[in-house]
Amino acid sequence: MATLEIRDLHVSVADGAEDGKEILRGVDLTVKAGETHALMGPNGSGKSTLAYAVAGHPKYQVTSGTVTLDGEDVLAMSVDERARAGLFLAMQYPVEVPGVSVSNFLRSAITAVRGEAPKLRDFAKELKAAMDALSIDPAFAQRSLNEGFSGGEKKRHEILQLELLKPKIAVLDETDSGLDVDALKVVSEGVNRFGAAGETGTLLITHYTRILRYVKPDFVHVFSGGRVVAQGGPELADELESEGYEKYAKAGASA
Ligand SMILES: Nc1ncnc2c1ncn2[C@@H]1O[C@H](COP(=O)(O)OP(=O)(O)O)[C@@H](O)[C@H]1O
Ligand SMILES: [Mg+2]
Repeated sequence: MATLEIRDLHVSVADGAEDGKEILRGVDLTVKAGETHALMGPNGSGKSTLAYAVAGHPKYQVTSGTVTLDGEDVLAMSVDERARAGLFLAMQYPVEVPGVSVSNFLRSAITAVRGEAPKLRDFAKELKAAMDALSIDPAFAQRSLNEGFSGGEKKRHEILQLELLKPKIAVLDETDSGLDVDALKVVSEGVNRFGAAGETGTLLITHYTRILRYVKPDFVHVFSGGRVVAQGGPELADELESEGYEKYAKAGASA
């Protein structure tokens, strides 16, 4: 069973005005295939930094700690190698690429992950089946990548990638403000679907406690001050929704 293990991870911002500022201060987290984890915490607590560090973004420098997927050193892998190893990392701010269709993009992504390009006919069938399964309008495949996408469309594209790429572990960093109800439902249905399938482990990163009305996580982690400060089951999500993060802000700051 696929396992992503993050151990005592420390990360600093590698450039910019705040050069060398430590953002992650000893993160421990384990995500296994078939599990849905929600990582929740206040704005600025370092949630996106964790996603970027696991994705291998050059701005974020791992100063100590380990990230492994089935025992393999993820931090030693290139971004492409991470994808091929079965990691899927959804960008919080996807780039617009006029002239590249969703269909073209998805075929390239599949090629990168599988190491060979699927035959066009096979790919067309596969894409149609995935879009049907997710009730996505076939015209969506011909849209320019991310151009003018609504929140819901961005999320639909994210879930479509999951359906086609079938990663072992998916890290989904959700915008704190940009999630309209439509987008929220798309993400939730996708996450629940992949959780039920049992093949993918999902780390859903969000500030937005309301998403947990729709997603039923197996584990909830509270993030504060660059660390996990509390963990629990779904009941922790209910507590966060009614009481907020206040109680945990201190735990993060005092570390
Ligand atoms: N590229 C960067 N340059 C400078 N500071 C950054 C950068 N990325 C994140 N930070 C800082 O790290 C902290 C955590 O940010 P972030 O990971 O985006 O938190 P969250 O996703 O929980 O809102 C913030 O104080 C933020 O200003
Ligand atoms: Mg963030």
